[in-house]
Amino acid sequence: MRVSAQAQPNIALVKYWGKRDGGGNLPATGSLSVTLESLWTRMILQSSKHRKDSLTVNGVSAPEMLPRVSRCLDSVLGSNRERIHVVSDSNFPIEAGLASSASAFSALVIAANRLTGKNLSFSALSRFAGEASGSAARSMCGGFVELVADSDNVHIQQIADAEEWPLEVIVAITAEGKKPVGSGEAMIRSAKTSPFYSSWLNRQDHDLKLARTSILTRDFEALAFVSERNCLKMHSVMWSSRPPIVYWNSGTLDCLQTVRSLQAKGHGVFFTIDAGPQVKAICLPESRQAVHDALVATNGVIKAIRSKIGPPARLIL
Ligand code: DP6
Repeated sequence: MRVSAQAQPNIALVKYWGKRDGGGNLPATGSLSVTLESLWTRMILQSSKHRKDSLTVNGVSAPEMLPRVSRCLDSVLGSNRERIHVVSDSNFPIEAGLASSASAFSALVIAANRLTGKNLSFSALSRFAGEASGSAARSMCGGFVELVADSDNVHIQQIADAEEWPLEVIVAITAEGKKPVGSGEAMIRSAKTSPFYSSWLNRQDHDLKLARTSILTRDFEALAFVSERNCLKMHSVMWSSRPPIVYWNSGTLDCLQTVRSLQAKGHGVFFTIDAGPQVKAICLPESRQAVHDALVATNGVIKAIRSKIGPPARLIL
């Protein structure tokens, strides 16, 4: 039995940066993202006769990533399950701040559910994806997606699909290596040591409301304002942690200046940055070419990837 699924990474506009106490990898607050189209992870799952699961990532055996994958398979299929060989391929750098865990774990739960004919609900699968990696729950949906954090649980809801507001994303890659510290570990450090952490959490509902409303009313300026501010607040929390968590490089800063000069010329564009040095520029379709060309010409940019807003995690042939 062999099953394939594909999912796209998502880019948070209102960030998830902090976990709840009590386990289950539940986020401390809600978050909101756009799912990308042109970046993807494809997962092939195959029943195995071996005593252990196995994992190949981009053509190379990856035993160090296997425990997290096996735990996710246990949560979907139960621990008394057959062993599985997992093959994961992505068309973009992984562990580099491009949300590869989001596309990987959302594809994994979709494929695992099919492999054994479990037929679990969307909300159960989103929960399992989120337990493996908080941002993965959002890649279960396409378009503009909110992770709503209730007092005892979380759920995913789509705010608008890609056709309803066809924005574009240009991802400027400024380094392709693995990030120095994983986001999960970095969040825990922020919670323990940043003096700004509690005010960051307290303002999240406010930012979520602004972002949600700006999407529903297609107010690009308002979405740009809240997204850039939310991103800079998250990085302020990281920078004020001890030891500081600094994912940026000089290319990251140069990209921000490029976005500012594009804005000064009247282009509809704004930036966001995650746990890595890459800059994601979200723009109106008419500014796509100018934003791409300006970012490619920016010091420190290795390449720029264009993307539209993408579809949900799904089975493929
Ligand atoms: C900065 O989802 O990678 O991209 O739950 O520990 O796997 P874990 O964290 P992860 O964190 C994503 C952090 C972020 C912001 C975001 O995507 O909302």
